[in-house]
Amino acid sequence: MVQVQSDRVTVCYLWELKRQKKKITALTAYDYPVARILDQAGVDVILVGDSLGMVVLGYDNTLPVTMEEMVHHTKAVVRARTRAMVIGDMPYLSFHLSLKDSIANAARFIKEAGADGVKLEGATAQRIQLVEALVEAEIPVMGHVGLTPQSVRRIGGFKVQGTEEAKAEAIFRGALALEKAGAFAVVLESIPAELAREITAALKIPTIGIGAGPDCDGHVLVSHDILGLYDKFVPSFVKQYANLWQISSDAFKAYNEDVKSGRYPERK
Ligand code: KIV
Repeated sequence: MVQVQSDRVTVCYLWELKRQKKKITALTAYDYPVARILDQAGVDVILVGDSLGMVVLGYDNTLPVTMEEMVHHTKAVVRARTRAMVIGDMPYLSFHLSLKDSIANAARFIKEAGADGVKLEGATAQRIQLVEALVEAEIPVMGHVGLTPQSVRRIGGFKVQGTEEAKAEAIFRGALALEKAGAFAVVLESIPAELAREITAALKIPTIGIGAGPDCDGHVLVSHDILGLYDKFVPSFVKQYANLWQISSDAFKAYNEDVKSGRYPERK
């Protein structure tokens, strides 16, 4: 049996975890301190998600996020990690125009930001062709099917996907096509647990679930959601491990009162 300990998380290491039925952990980070804490906590994959747009930049959805913003934040995350794999999320319209521009944008995550791979949403014929081209260009790709938040306008909201048979089949076929195209893993977002279980059993590459039940090979969440640091909306499947909003608010109020009342700084 291959030892599943690693100084640095690689694609092969994640495949070995799946083979040995050991779970993969993933969380999002967008800056140096959170990435450093995740890395030291032993999280396998740090995703610099385009959820950046919502939880850090305050937009209502991920559509306005730019390549410049993603590269900027991915650089900070890469500077923080020692062990975790860092994946940069390709933002809306960075991989929808020409194949050439899409490859050039993906390569910026590798060459400029120092990421280990990219994630992109969807599994249309054009996306599958792009995944093949990226793998050909030596760029590891994580797929993403089910609820793809960049499709929010077309699908009419952040809704569970694959509840009807035809849509479930399309998601299943999409995940298989991503594996065939060379993706090293695939995110399954907001789909029924049974569908996620079937896809996970059918694929050789790991599935990383978010709102997709317990049977995926690994699980990812948005760090701001589990830390209680996002006030607008928390999906029902999120487990909140802390309430940093309250803790930060108490600290800021105490500082504010200390300065206003002259208790801080002290003369000594
Ligand atoms: O942008 C993001 O954070 C994501 C995860 C939720 C999978 O895509």
